Amino acid sequence: MSPFHLTGRKALVTGGARGLGAGMAVALAAAGAAVMIGDVLEEQGRETARALAATGARAAFVHMDVTDEAHWLAAISATHYALGGFDILINNAGVEVTALVTDIDPDELRRMLDVNIVGTALGIKHAFRAMRPGDWPDRAVPWSTFRRWRRPSHFRRSPGIRRPSPPWTGSRAWQPRNRASSDMACG
Ligand SMILES: NC(=O)c1ccc[n+]([C@@H]2O[C@H](COP(=O)([O-])OP(=O)(O)OC[C@H]3O[C@@H](n4cnc5c(N)ncnc54)[C@H](O)[C@@H]3O)[C@@H](O)[C@H]2O)c1
Repeated sequence: MSPFHLTGRKALVTGGARGLGAGMAVALAAAGAAVMIGDVLEEQGRETARALAATGARAAFVHMDVTDEAHWLAAISATHYALGGFDILINNAGVEVTALVTDIDPDELRRMLDVNIVGTALGIKHAFRAMRPGDWPDRAVPWSTFRRWRRPSHFRRSPGIRRPSPPWTGSRAWQPRNRASSDMACG
């Protein structure tokens, strides 16, 4: 078996809508993994997930801002829900300040630190928690909640794409802070 054989693995790729993240998502899917794209870029993220699904891979998109803990919880829930587990985190989302040192804008700098440092640390925190034996889903989401989400009325079908209505929208604890709802598209 190839050391890069990832059949059965489920990966969440932050910043996976484009660039290096999208490239890693393609590589993971080619190795057999199911892939959840997490990004602030909705259209591009969905499109990347659709393109992966068109190759036969299992892929989905979830809107997430890595600086927001509620988004991490929702994205990990979405990964479990859409892909059936969560084994791999690609903590890729990041921003770069390209200004000359003489022109640095402190707000841009703070945003970069927030995304690149805080966002990455939150990813490690929540991935470790979710992957810790015995911790999932007991700590994060009660199974009864999953069972409720699985009711047929929660699915709207369109050709080739299964769109569960966002499972966390009904619960204040799972509501991403900056959005009325999250969305995901599954291939
Ligand atoms: N491209 C390079 O040569 C290079 C070199 C060294 C490091 N990096 C780092 O690798 C990562 C990816 O680089 P890239 O060139 O693909 O960049 P990119 O800008 O093309 O992609 C970054 C992705 O992260 C997403 N993102 C940004 N902020 C986010 C947030 N708060 N929450 C969720 N998603 C968010 C963006 O929407 C985008 O899809 C970045 O962290 C970058 O700093 C890139």
